[in-house]
Amino acid sequence: MDKIVINGGNPLYGDIEVSGAKNAAVAVIYACLLVKEKIVLENIPPILDVSVSLEVLRSMGAKVKMLKKDVVEIDATDAVQGSSPAELVRRMRASYYLIGAELGRYKCASVDYPGGCDFGVRPIDQHIKAFTALGSEVEVDNGRIEVKAENGVNGANVFFDVVTVGGTMNLMIAAACANGTTIIENAAREPHVVDLANFLNTCGANIKGAGTDTIKIKGVEELHGCTYAIIPDMIEAGTYMIAAAATGGKLKITNVIPKHLESITAKLKEMGVAVSEGDDYVLVSAAPELKRINIKTLPYPGFPTDMQPQMCVLLCLAKGVSLLNEGVWDNRFRYVEELKRMSANIKVDGKTAIVEGIPKLSPAKVRAVDLRAGAAMVIAGLATNGKTEIEDIHFIERGYDNIVGKLAAVGACIKKVYIPEEISYEKAN
Ligand code: EPU
Repeated sequence: MDKIVINGGNPLYGDIEVSGAKNAAVAVIYACLLVKEKIVLENIPPILDVSVSLEVLRSMGAKVKMLKKDVVEIDATDAVQGSSPAELVRRMRASYYLIGAELGRYKCASVDYPGGCDFGVRPIDQHIKAFTALGSEVEVDNGRIEVKAENGVNGANVFFDVVTVGGTMNLMIAAACANGTTIIENAAREPHVVDLANFLNTCGANIKGAGTDTIKIKGVEELHGCTYAIIPDMIEAGTYMIAAAATGGKLKITNVIPKHLESITAKLKEMGVAVSEGDDYVLVSAAPELKRINIKTLPYPGFPTDMQPQMCVLLCLAKGVSLLNEGVWDNRFRYVEELKRMSANIKVDGKTAIVEGIPKLSPAKVRAVDLRAGAAMVIAGLATNGKTEIEDIHFIERGYDNIVGKLAAVGACIKKVYIPEEISYEKAN
């Protein structure tokens, strides 16, 4: 029931450090189930989706020990197949990696249907197609997914019908210890796909081609323990790049891989924002006036869908009309109604938002309708003159490590406020 309260208007100045990548970390954590030795994961982001994933493994009997705020030791030797609690699995999307991990380790899987943010239909048919190709029988019954590979998990050629991040990574996990070779065609090329391959290879897997659209996995007998550091979160970095541009500030965003940010950097430059790169940082200085642009979200290396709501806020502040087309999800514009409460001038036509820029957004009471939508509300609040309150911030906490503390340290007037249950109940009535 907590909320974020922002007194907007301060330009952000200073250094802001990015944490480990959520979408790499959650896959790597579930992949630890394949390994019957100790694994130490570094640069793990302390966020809700990571704690839920660790809790799932712990509740299955794995030993999970936090060595530091961002370092965890996992030993899944004693984990019991099919024992993940439905209540936890349903709280996040990435729990689908548990299916690939159980299948890879035990040759069968039994996991509840995953949850996650609501962007319209979120099918897992491509995951199922991949598990079937590996020789398994898959049944979905009463919200539970049951997979059995009675003749073992056998390498196969899989051509994905759509570019799917989760499908690609799940197949890599399931096939790492399969009999024979698996070839994934039309694979996703996101940096987290490469990170998962690097992690599995560090554990002794034989995966080549991650980062291209063809990935080759030669199954190995078994994997061994290792120490591995997760890559920095490109979406967290991009969110702070936009926060600098939207508030008229200048931020040095550190612990990043600038190459991963190229599509975001290119669009910001097109709008007139100055972006320069160092080895592991980007420096973003706001433009005197933001230019209108058009954007289409696409799989990597295209402009990321997970930056679409944050970018929409910046387009609201640009001079002229911009077109923002969503090329990945069916329905990722639910946040537009919230931005309209802040005077944004946006019309949604199917998968395109037509954004007419205005000089300033106005403060309001809004909701985080999902994770990235919540980050967009934070940026919008910072860019107004006045008090914005954001509710449902548990969505934001799923994917951003200490967003309030990090932004406050670079000059934002922002705080998290705890609302006791009874007050929010009275308010609701
Ligand atoms: N799709 C299918 N069938 C499938 C799988 C996907 O039709 O079996 C479709 C989806 O409906 C969608 C497209 O393929 O239209 C891409 O979906 P993808 O599988 O790539 O998405 P995902 O793996 O479920 C991950 C991230 C999302 C991010 C997308 C796209 C995780 C845990 N989630 O989801 O991240 O939007 O890739 O890049 O890695 C976020 O971090 O806020 C977030 C939502």
